[in-house]
Amino acid sequence: MNKKKIFTSLLVKDISRFRKVDTNIYLLILRYFITSSAFRSMFFHRLLSLNLVNNKVLRKIITAFGWLLTEIEIPSTSNVGGGLFIPHPKCIIINRRCIIGENVTIAQGVTIGGNIFKEKNGRESPIIENNVLIGAGAKILGPVTVGENSIIGANAVVIKDIPKNSVAVGIPAKVVKQVNEPYPDLIKKNYSL
Ligand SMILES: CC(C)(COP(=O)(O)OP(=O)(O)OC[C@H]1O[C@@H](n2cnc3c(N)ncnc32)[C@H](O)[C@@H]1OP(=O)(O)O)[C@@H](O)C(=O)NCCC(=O)NCCS
Repeated sequence: MNKKKIFTSLLVKDISRFRKVDTNIYLLILRYFITSSAFRSMFFHRLLSLNLVNNKVLRKIITAFGWLLTEIEIPSTSNVGGGLFIPHPKCIIINRRCIIGENVTIAQGVTIGGNIFKEKNGRESPIIENNVLIGAGAKILGPVTVGENSIIGANAVVIKDIPKNSVAVGIPAKVVKQVNEPYPDLIKKNYSL
């Protein structure tokens, strides 16, 4: 698949978290670009991370413009899968070397950050696997992995790996229960997107 097709397919996955993609995709992209700051920041991120813009000055202008228009910092070097859903896009910071899987949900005030004091195998930033929900204000720090389908409670601070299908809360975050149904499936069912 060429880069432009990958770009469009990632944006389709992003929009699929808001609604059914049942009409002209380019009109939907334009609509969400105008109306959603979370979508705008994903648009800029995907444009730069797929190297669809190579001119250095233009890249810097797009980055600066993106930061001006949104309150989300997603560097082009971070690796973000399709379907990222940010319901309230305020004060969200993502590390430049972080890896985020598909259909992840990030609430307001979340930091997914590096910890250079804890470098592990040359990695100092988190890996967030598919379908994870990160609650409001949570901080995920250092070379930890949050396993697929897991839920991180509001204001938790994650500094150790969280196994898949776990609900983890508190400081430092500890697993308190198991996930019955992954969050993306739950919202799809309840809101019939
Ligand atoms: C983590 C979370 C999903 C757990 O919800 P739940 O499955 O209904 O779990 P429960 O309420 O049964 O809580 C299980 C235990 O964890 C504790 N707990 C739940 N959320 C917690 C949190 N954020 N911080 C600390 N402890 C928490 C509960 O007190 C309970 O402890 P207990 O068994 O000792 O009484 C939920 O509390 C949460 O934080 N969701 C984030 C939602 C969010 O950020 N929304 C933003 C929308 S704008």
